[in-house]
Amino acid sequence: MPNALLILAAGRGTRMKSDAPKVLHQLGGVPMLYHAMAAAGPLKSDRVVVVAGFGASQVEAAAKSFDTTVDIVVQKEQLGTGHAVRVAKDELAGFKGDIFVLYGDTPFITAQTLEKMSKARKDGAAVVVLGFDADDPALYGRLVLNENGLLVKIVEARDADAIQQDITLCNSGVVCAEAAVLYDLVAEIGNNNKAQEYYLTDIVEIANQKELKCSVVTCPQTETFGINSRSELAAAEAVFQRDARHAALENGVTLQDPDSTIFAFDTLIGRDVVVAPHVVFGPGVTVESGAEIRAFSHLEGCHIGADVTIGPFARLRPGAEIGDTARVGNFVEVKAAQVGNGAKINHLTYIGDADIGADANIGAGTVTCNYDGVLKHKTIVGEGAFIGSNTSLVAPVSVGAKAMTGSGSVISKDVPAQALGISRPRQANVPEFATKLMARLTAIKSSRKKPDQDQ
Ligand code: UD1
Ligand code: CA
Repeated sequence: MPNALLILAAGRGTRMKSDAPKVLHQLGGVPMLYHAMAAAGPLKSDRVVVVAGFGASQVEAAAKSFDTTVDIVVQKEQLGTGHAVRVAKDELAGFKGDIFVLYGDTPFITAQTLEKMSKARKDGAAVVVLGFDADDPALYGRLVLNENGLLVKIVEARDADAIQQDITLCNSGVVCAEAAVLYDLVAEIGNNNKAQEYYLTDIVEIANQKELKCSVVTCPQTETFGINSRSELAAAEAVFQRDARHAALENGVTLQDPDSTIFAFDTLIGRDVVVAPHVVFGPGVTVESGAEIRAFSHLEGCHIGADVTIGPFARLRPGAEIGDTARVGNFVEVKAAQVGNGAKINHLTYIGDADIGADANIGAGTVTCNYDGVLKHKTIVGEGAFIGSNTSLVAPVSVGAKAMTGSGSVISKDVPAQALGISRPRQANVPEFATKLMARLTAIKSSRKKPDQDQ
């Protein structure tokens, strides 16, 4: 059965006290919305539709940069979760299959849980609601079951009577139903309740009136954690990091100080990688097996080959591709550059928009001068080339295979293979001059001393 994700993300998130839409606040280095969207992968969803409202154009841009096939519908006024589902009706017209309604601010629902809901659908439930047993039911909708354990209605906290208030089985918000059934049901929702909102949860009572079976699938409360404030965002980040560290350790990665390793949503790390303390993985990092990431390195959007050594104190920015066994040392920044296998860039260097050949050696203080203030230009360094310390490579420029540059050179013309490129004034030595100069300077200093001063 085909399936679609319908992700509700129109709310402003007032309690975030932010100018940005809530779902764009970052969790694991990416907008929290991505976490909900990511279920589409394992579920092989045919459609992903996001209902945006506050900051819709920003939400759209972010959603599309994660998944270009996503569709956005705009809910101008947030009249309730039922209304939000309704506004997506035209967008999903013609879709035949199950729709999962998810929330953009609820990042931890697992694909396995959604698969359990699919199974409940296959087992004959027309509407499947994801519930959890709440430690403190507080503001959650309460799930009211009949004697057969089937769901008869959902009562919002503010509309619940004293007996319903005592129910701890609560609504996560996630619902699954066949598209045609869902849209028949939401068409009948009214807003006759304390909040005067169109509650999606009302579809359960309507379905029961139509003798459609509604059932509950449960998951741990931790999965249903929703983010409404900065404190909850911080708590969610802590949960995300704890889980990511645990997964890395389970997969054969050594974390010397797990609590100080920061992972992103999509970090991929191979076996036998060793991560020293205080390493930050931004989004889009892949590390092949056997690599060592030394302390205080910051990596994003990069690929690190097998048995590479990075850092300490290295910065790898998007587009850095580090070949197997290469070394990128302290205070080195690499951006949009391929670094060939076995190349060494050990100290105090900027390599941007470059192609560094295998086994090249880039001396300390080398800078690719890639930007002229308007355009970016490329630097090519051939295999086995040796770039002398403190070389400025003024791009566009290339240094051929096995060529060298003299230290301190400003290289603005191509250096042919095996040649030496050198561009610095010749050195002259003036005999005895240092001694004479020191004597003169010392004399000047003592002539300036006031008579009553000793030194
Ligand atoms: C909802 C459920 C409640 C459940 C709780 C779980 C309803 C009526 N209630 O309550 O049973 O226990 O979630 O957290 O569904 N949204 C829109 N457009 C709207 C309204 C909401 O896109 O018009 C989005 C919000 O941005 C948010 C999500 O839907 O991501 C949930 O809305 P919210 O107002 O937080 O629902 P709750 O009152 O928490
Ligand atoms: Ca909520």
